Amino acid sequence: DESTALPFDLDGVRILISAGGTREALDPVRYLGNHSSGKQGFALARAAAARGAEVTIVAGSTSGAGDPAGVQIVPIASARELSDEMSARAAAADVVIMAAAVADFRPLAVAEAKIKKRDAGPAPIELETNPDILAGLVQARKRGEIPASTVIVGFAAETGDDNGGVLEHGRAKFARKGCDLLVVNPVGSGKAFGTEDNTGWLLSAAGTETALPLTSKTLLASRILDALAPLLDRG
Ligand code: CTP
Ligand code: CA
Repeated sequence: DESTALPFDLDGVRILISAGGTREALDPVRYLGNHSSGKQGFALARAAAARGAEVTIVAGSTSGAGDPAGVQIVPIASARELSDEMSARAAAADVVIMAAAVADFRPLAVAEAKIKKRDAGPAPIELETNPDILAGLVQARKRGEIPASTVIVGFAAETGDDNGGVLEHGRAKFARKGCDLLVVNPVGSGKAFGTEDNTGWLLSAAGTETALPLTSKTLLASRILDALAPLLDRG
């Protein structure tokens, strides 16, 4: 064989990434949202595509995340739309990465007409809980609806509080979610949201805890892909 092509390490690997923030409608003009820029998820998409992967991003609201070449982008707004897209697409993916900042709650009712100012002051907003998409994907894999070989990666945005630091909260979340890898990022006070750099820990189901250096979201994306590549079943 005369072929001298050096294969990409993620050649043909199908990677489904959720990125950005969700928006939960209150009325036709307003929503509840969050500060996610989508940059880390989009950086993962770019890095994976550059390593030969077939990448789809299910994208919520983003800011400055760019437009990665050769990546399919599926726009969504709400957590339920994100949930529907991820559920429909996960079984056809080799890797599913939940980098999106998903609203935990949504308004119980969406007003059909714009909510007007009232003399009585603001009406309280009643909320209900959104589905946990990441936990749902792990459950779907347990039920056999998603192949057992599919690698599922989660993110954990933590500030730390009286009950523990960022890493402690990350460990507890990892145990709750049941995914294969969890990227734990400190957030708040200028960290992670909208910034170019990121840091944290990478927790694996094998029990390893790897500190991630403070570096660009681009380089961090490569480190995350390095950690997940050995988990792929390349049959
Ligand atoms: N996630 C999800 N569905 C939700 C909420 C979160 O799939 N309804 C995913 C995120 O995309 C992320 C992981 O779960 O990969 C952790 O999100 P995070 O908000 O840090 O954790 P929660 O489980 O929502 O816990 P809390 O916000 O209370 O810390
Ligand atoms: Ca949350």
